[in-house]
Amino acid sequence: MRVVIGNDHAGLDLVESIVAVIEDMGIETQHIGTFSADSVDYPDYAVSVCNAVTSGEYDRGILVCGTGIGMSIAANKVPGVRAALCAEPYSAALSRLHNDANVLCLGARVLGPGIAEEIVRAWLTTQFSGDRHQRRVDKINSLDGK
Ligand code: RB5
Repeated sequence: MRVVIGNDHAGLDLVESIVAVIEDMGIETQHIGTFSADSVDYPDYAVSVCNAVTSGEYDRGILVCGTGIGMSIAANKVPGVRAALCAEPYSAALSRLHNDANVLCLGARVLGPGIAEEIVRAWLTTQFSGDRHQRRVDKINSLDGK
């Protein structure tokens, strides 16, 4: 699996610990920034990460901003993206199991590094169950471009 990660200035503190967790899991990761505390616009990073996922270059994306909300709103505008904003591991696992989420959004001003690690581990280790959920995901995907 290959994971691409992006953040805005508000996500900077948390993103470094998330990159470390993913590397510790032995998963290939690419962090595309931002790398400084200078103010940037989160939609720019959301689009870069989402395009890298929908192009097939990466399997999954992770986006971090202050709340995770702006990143999730922007990410879900990109056709082919199913982004899940998660604040605990149960939802993270279910976003994979039922929704086949391909992008995870996190809020650095909401989460500490410990719970963020649990969320990321749950999200990266849970597989989509398919079955009746495939039909529902197909219906979500059919909304792209409408
Ligand atoms: C940046 O100040 C903040 O608005 C952004 O990180 C995010 O929380 C938006 O949803």
